Amino acid sequence: MKPLNNHKEISIDSLKEISTWVSFAHDLNQLLELILETGTSIMRAKASSLLLLDQKTNKLYFKVTTGMKKNEVKQFDIKLGQGIVGHVAETGESLLIKDVARDKRWHRSISDKIGFKTRSIACVPMKVQDKVIGAIEFINKAGGDTFQQNDIELLNVFSDLAALAILNARKFRLVQQENEGLKQALELNHNIIGESKAIKDVLADALKVADSNASTLILGESGTGKELLARLIHQASPRKNRRMITINCAAVPESLLEAELFGHERGSFTGASEQKIGKLELADESTLFLDEIGEMSPTMQAKILRVLQDGIFYRVGGNAPISIDIRVIAATNQDIAEGVANGKFREDLYYRLNVVKLHTPPLRDRKEDIPLIARYFADFFKKEKGNYQIEISKPAMDKMIKYDWPGNIRELRNAIERAVVMGNGKQIIPEDLPIIDGEATINRVKFGATLQEALDDFKKRFIEVNLKHTNGNRSKAAAVMGIQRTYLSRLISKFNIKK
Ligand SMILES: Nc1ncnc2c1ncn2[C@@H]1O[C@H](COP(=O)(O)OP(=O)(O)OP(=O)(O)O)[C@@H](O)[C@H]1O
Ligand SMILES: [Mg+2]
Repeated sequence: MKPLNNHKEISIDSLKEISTWVSFAHDLNQLLELILETGTSIMRAKASSLLLLDQKTNKLYFKVTTGMKKNEVKQFDIKLGQGIVGHVAETGESLLIKDVARDKRWHRSISDKIGFKTRSIACVPMKVQDKVIGAIEFINKAGGDTFQQNDIELLNVFSDLAALAILNARKFRLVQQENEGLKQALELNHNIIGESKAIKDVLADALKVADSNASTLILGESGTGKELLARLIHQASPRKNRRMITINCAAVPESLLEAELFGHERGSFTGASEQKIGKLELADESTLFLDEIGEMSPTMQAKILRVLQDGIFYRVGGNAPISIDIRVIAATNQDIAEGVANGKFREDLYYRLNVVKLHTPPLRDRKEDIPLIARYFADFFKKEKGNYQIEISKPAMDKMIKYDWPGNIRELRNAIERAVVMGNGKQIIPEDLPIIDGEATINRVKFGATLQEALDDFKKRFIEVNLKHTNGNRSKAAAVMGIQRTYLSRLISKFNIKK
């Protein structure tokens, strides 16, 4: 936009345009930049900044800046009450300073450090319902002019627009999160089934801790419902309206770790064309589910620990600390205490995560639940596949009760799904189950699977055999199979291969 001499007529149009954008744009940063740039141009200022007040630290951070030194200035933060902006944010009153050198309140060190000669400043607070949320300042008028009282009036319009944009964005994020929370609850279409004492005890404990903010560690074999339990705790907690955020610690590549956890600012590294909100920030005021923590890399352990200790972090390329309020639930099917003993898992992190410990019992320890769960999944899949008559025959049920289910509920669920699809459409009979004499069968090639399913099935069994022959040593198994260890680990979690 060209600098304008007379801001009266032109500004009305720009403002109208901005105010339509404010109501539907959801990229807050872009919108604030637009507001500030338009303001700067209309005011014929040489530079400008929009600062936000962090209520927890009582400091102002540069959110958007314009002018020659716009990048340099972002590294600073300003205490409430410090300098012109700090003063405006503290008092909630605008300031028009024609010559800063003559004003005691001016805090010259930032200008000095970045080598910018500040002469005059017009600064107004940004308010939402009378509460100051930040401030906007315009610096040095073009052509050596000084800011006038009518500039302050115009500036107030910009600051109101910016405050509105921020308020809208926050509301939007809140609504979006609430929607996602609801959606997630609906998607959680499997309840935790079981009448055994073992499962009832865990459920009772889970509901007891749900109310608190206590970090909760869920231990249990693969397929025993750890994730399901984590969701249940979240859904029963005061944080239920927000979406639970899951990080699968085994699946985050080291190179993306920081961006994934902390997010990044636009332009913070090559390829960062957009601002990205990290998982930690998404989990603010919600639950963070750290899944497969036994697989967490040492770097990730260090980073997560820092955040849990400090409660703040920085986006990659960002200078403003972000404070978060999260409740952590962690899960693993590994012996994490052993991991601590042999130095693979940090003890300090372990103690942070392990405030409350819950164990999901293996299916073989609660065999009385097998008929219940089997019928539940038979019902579920017959509805899903549109096949309404199917029953589980007595011999099939007996066979299921006898079997030990090393893959636990996931294995039972898969067995039933397969039996519903493969069976005669009336009754599940023992032959429909992929178990022979208490051992899972080496699956024969069957008609009805896609090539991908058959290949995945083969890969899974191939890895299991190799792990068995190397006593679970992943490096050895990977070497034998001629693949990278990291790739093997990924396949192991993809196919949920148990130890
Ligand atoms: N008590 C239960 N009642 C009904 N379904 C269950 C129960 N427990 C687990 N399931 C189902 O079993 C499957 C595996 O559960 P989940 O993913 O929570 O296990 P997990 O312990 O996280 O396994 P892994 O360690 O392999 O990640 C899911 O489909 C889940 O819905
Ligand atoms: Mg899981």
